[in-house]
Amino acid sequence: MTDTAGSTALVTGANSGLGLEAAAQLAEQGYDRVIITARTNQKAEAARDALQTRTGRDVFETITLDNDKLDTVAAAAATLASRAGKIDFLLLNAGIAPTKEVTKTNDGVEATVAATLIGHHLLTMRLLEEGLLASDARIVIAGSEAARGDVPTFNPIDVDEFAAANFDGDLEAAIEAQIRMDPPAKYHPGNTYATVKVFAAWWAAELARKLPEGMTVNAVSPGSTPDTNAIRNAPFFMRRVMLPIFKFIPGMSHSLGDGAGRYLEAARFGPEVTGKFFASKPKKMTGPLVEIDMDHFDNPQGQRALWNATSKVAGGVDYPVHN
Ligand SMILES: NC(=O)c1ccc[n+]([C@@H]2O[C@H](COP(=O)([O-])OP(=O)(O)OC[C@H]3O[C@@H](n4cnc5c(N)ncnc54)[C@H](OP(=O)(O)O)[C@@H]3O)[C@@H](O)[C@H]2O)c1
Repeated sequence: MTDTAGSTALVTGANSGLGLEAAAQLAEQGYDRVIITARTNQKAEAARDALQTRTGRDVFETITLDNDKLDTVAAAAATLASRAGKIDFLLLNAGIAPTKEVTKTNDGVEATVAATLIGHHLLTMRLLEEGLLASDARIVIAGSEAARGDVPTFNPIDVDEFAAANFDGDLEAAIEAQIRMDPPAKYHPGNTYATVKVFAAWWAAELARKLPEGMTVNAVSPGSTPDTNAIRNAPFFMRRVMLPIFKFIPGMSHSLGDGAGRYLEAARFGPEVTGKFFASKPKKMTGPLVEIDMDHFDNPQGQRALWNATSKVAGGVDYPVHN
């Protein structure tokens, strides 16, 4: 028996890469129910088969959920509500590396932010509304070193500056323009990805203020982990030349096990650790997981505006205060 025996985890984007590895590690570390989500039933079932074969444990349940289609997220929450049991660890891992040109969902949301934030917001609000999170639940959303602003070609935008220059300082309107990638917001793959991961950290900071005592939420970067499918959108040169070279440079990348292991490390943080962003040390891509306290993560007005814009874009879904 371990202290996770009898515990339930839910992992989004669990058919591939870090999500698949995290689901395996959770079962291996004693979780007795691991709910895995994928965008299609076929992918979810294939992942369950692979996980059962690897771990030898029959603890995986599947759910289909596509953050690009909010009705599937609402349906997933409804399905979960019809099943018994509360979730102890909610891992909002799904995400994409940015495409070269801007891509939008049918709801007019830029695809990187849709995958990372909007669907996850709706899912989390619905789980809270339905009372499906344990009183000491741990919520982790995938962050990235890119959000620090010290990784070449990944520069998060300065939201305050963007709002002042274009929206008379209205942060919420400025952030909604970024979420929808409507002019004057300008798409740039690296900068958009970095900005979205800052938003993930801000979202965690704002949600932490709302959660009941005992539950926590943090943004956690898995660190540079090349052996996933994230690079499918990357240019040929990056995929076939740069990344294979990175793998041989000490400190530039680590294994899938180490990357997913960071999520599980954060699931074990105490109740006092909440609303924070954890990643590799500044200017590092791997190594120990540390709290990042750079100035641009400490922006309470930006965090509130991000929350409001996210709630609006997710269909007017806000924190269920009656709970
Ligand atoms: N790998 C790294 O070096 C690294 C570094 C920092 C942060 N991260 C973050 O780690 C997370 C996992 O990435 P990964 O590297 O493991 O990539 P991956 O192998 O491509 O896995 C991404 C997962 O997210 C799912 N997904 C993508 N868009 C989705 C959407 N709209 N709705 C629902 N699910 C969606 C994918 O489903 P499909 O298979 O159907 O596309 C897949 O299951 C991401 O949030 C990424 O930003 C990765």
